[in-house]
Amino acid sequence: TRCAIGLDIGGTKIAGGVVTEAGETTQVLRIPTPREGGADAMLQALMKVIDRLRDRTPGIEAIGVGAAGMVEWPTGLIRCAPNNAYDELPLQDLLTERTGLPITVENDANAAAWAEWRFGQGANYRNGLLLTIGTGIGGGIILNDQLYRGDVGIGSEVGHIVINPEHGSLCGCGVTGCLEAQASGTALGRMGREAAAADPTGLLASLHGGPGSVTGETVFSAAEHGDPTARALFDKLGYWLGAGIASLVNIFNPEIVLIGGGLVTTRQYLFPPTQASFEQFVFAGSQRKLPLIECARLGAEAGLVGAAALALK
Ligand code: BGC
Ligand code: NA
Ligand code: ZN
Repeated sequence: TRCAIGLDIGGTKIAGGVVTEAGETTQVLRIPTPREGGADAMLQALMKVIDRLRDRTPGIEAIGVGAAGMVEWPTGLIRCAPNNAYDELPLQDLLTERTGLPITVENDANAAAWAEWRFGQGANYRNGLLLTIGTGIGGGIILNDQLYRGDVGIGSEVGHIVINPEHGSLCGCGVTGCLEAQASGTALGRMGREAAAADPTGLLASLHGGPGSVTGETVFSAAEHGDPTARALFDKLGYWLGAGIASLVNIFNPEIVLIGGGLVTTRQYLFPPTQASFEQFVFAGSQRKLPLIECARLGAEAGLVGAAALALK
């Protein structure tokens, strides 16, 4: 069977694996995303993963990369990314030179959406949205069974729709009040640090070495311990997320909205307030059939599976 390497460059980790045309994954490995060293460090890290996977698996036909940030289509040029140390990186050309294989570079959330619609939770729907909630918030839009890219591939940046410009937080993109600044894992960590600083004797502040070192994971463990402050932060996150989803549903009228990314592990706390806020804000909610908001199925591997599938296409 045909197979490709799929790579997923996130804000925190690079994941790589070998993916068959049926969407089966083997040999998945993960390394941290280089924080410094610019394009060279990024390229070196990617080549290390690629060489390791090619050594182990003969017959790789192509390589697909899903990368966080603005990725131009079909040139595979990465323009910029709020959470990654690359800009103006012609990744598709560079990897073509270095590997001799056909390379496809696509936005990470677009790739994840493609995977969910080919092999996962979106398979039975023609129109849908995927939001990935992690370090940032990514989006993938499927319209009539096709991945929507916009003019040059940089559409579907749902993390940067502006929902709180007056009183919101500063986004990594430089704008105040983006959905990503209000409802990502990064936002959860920031809200956790603020809450811990305001209550230095509370559980959040004491869990992992003081208010300054609180992350999204700390807030999750505090919520698991029943901490009302942590639970309230998830309510807040869900409130913003639901408002964002309501606006997107108003525009796209999807059959289904899938949620993926690292924060799906917190769904027990995040989903109920998200659903409530979505129902509160969506246009004419009582007079329409609302799309289901569900978990994506392919988990942490969606991005690399989708990237590989696009490369084999
Ligand atoms: C970027 C998107 C990316 C998302 C998830 C956002 O900050 O703008 O391009 O899809 O993070 O990685
Ligand atoms: Na996208
Ligand atoms: Zn932004």
